[in-house]
Amino acid sequence: MLIELLIVLQVLIGLAFITLTIFTGSLVLALFSDAPFVVTNKSTLRGMLSQANIKPNDVIVDLGSGDGRLVLAAARQGRIATGFELSRSLFLISQIRKLISGTSNAHFKRQDFFTADLTHVDVVLAYLTTPAIKKLRPKLEQELPAGARVVSHGVPIPGWTPANHLASETNKKLDDVWLYIKE
Ligand SMILES: C[S@@+](CC[C@H](N)C(=O)[O-])C[C@H]1O[C@@H](n2cnc3c(N)ncnc32)[C@H](O)[C@@H]1O
Repeated sequence: MLIELLIVLQVLIGLAFITLTIFTGSLVLALFSDAPFVVTNKSTLRGMLSQANIKPNDVIVDLGSGDGRLVLAAARQGRIATGFELSRSLFLISQIRKLISGTSNAHFKRQDFFTADLTHVDVVLAYLTTPAIKKLRPKLEQELPAGARVVSHGVPIPGWTPANHLASETNKKLDDVWLYIKE
C-alpha cells in the first residue's frame, strides 16, 4: 500500500514538474518572439481604449494579447473582443482571467496573429515592435474594412498617417499611442 502511494506521489510530482517546465518555457519563449511579452500599463490601456472609441457593436482584436488585460477591458465596451496569442502560458493565464472576471464576450485564441481573419474587425489593438508591425502592415491593408481603427502602442505604423497621436502621461516615448483609421 505504502509503495503504491509512493509511486502515485512520484507520478504526480513528475507531472507537476513537466507542467511547470512547459509553462515557464512558453513564458520565456514569449520574451523572444516577434514582439516580446511586456504588459500595457493601466494609464496606457485607458489611453488606447479612449483612442479606439469603441462602440457597443464593435468587433475588437488584440494582436498578441499577452495576459489578456486589453481584451477583457475592450470586451466590456464592445460586442466581442478576441485576443490572438502564441504563448501557451499567456493563453492559459488569459483564459483564467476571463473565467474569474466572467467576461463572456472576451475570447482567446492560441494562434499566430498573421493567420487571423481581420475582414470583419472594427478595432485592432496592438503593442508590437517596429519589425512586427511592418510585417503586419500589408495584412492590415488587405483585410481591414474601410473605417476600421488601428490603435498601436509603442510604435507608429511605418508609412501610415496617424489620425491622432497620444503622448504618454509618463513622458515615456515607449508608451505613446497612435490611432489610424483605415481608408
Ligand atoms: C508587447 S506584448 C503585448 C501584450 C498585450 N497586448 C498588452 O498590451 O498587454 C506582445 C505579445 O505578442 C505575442 N506575440 C508575438 N508574436 C505573435 C504572433 N505572431 N502571434 C500571436 N502572438 C504573438 C507575444 O507572445 C506577447 O505576448
